[in-house]
Amino acid sequence: MSEEKKIDFNRLMTVGEVSKRSGVAVSTIHFYEAKGLLKSTRTNGNQRRFSAITLRYIGLIKVAQRVGIPLEEVKDALSFYPVGSKLTATQWKELSEQWRAKLDERIQRLTRLRDEMDWCIGCGCLSLTECPLRNPDDILGQDGVGARILERP
Ligand code: FES
Repeated sequence: MSEEKKIDFNRLMTVGEVSKRSGVAVSTIHFYEAKGLLKSTRTNGNQRRFSAITLRYIGLIKVAQRVGIPLEEVKDALSFYPVGSKLTATQWKELSEQWRAKLDERIQRLTRLRDEMDWCIGCGCLSLTECPLRNPDDILGQDGVGARILERP
């Protein structure tokens, strides 16, 4: 029996229906699919159809983005499971715990930066020995381009 015959397309949603129910633009759904975060099935007419679990995945992606987790990290976390699979409560909990650790790490980093900024705002000395944000001789630049202080662990 082919995959087409096993699928009840009446139970699946069009991309427009997914967009309406999730509040996410059609183009964003296509983008998530292209990134491998969502999976659709094709009808005989080559139209996309999405299962109901897609809405849960979109919810997960939106929550992750809201707390600052980049799409690549969402993709990495989801890569342990088949794309679009129905995750168990245990698997959702695993994802949550994984991101909780990452959020804790980010909170610690931001707290340290905030404290360093508190120290430096109004000071302006840029002391080679005292200032935590000072970057003498562009030492951090040797590690690459970008905001290196913000990226340190
Ligand atoms: S600017 Fe003075 S300690 Fe950073």
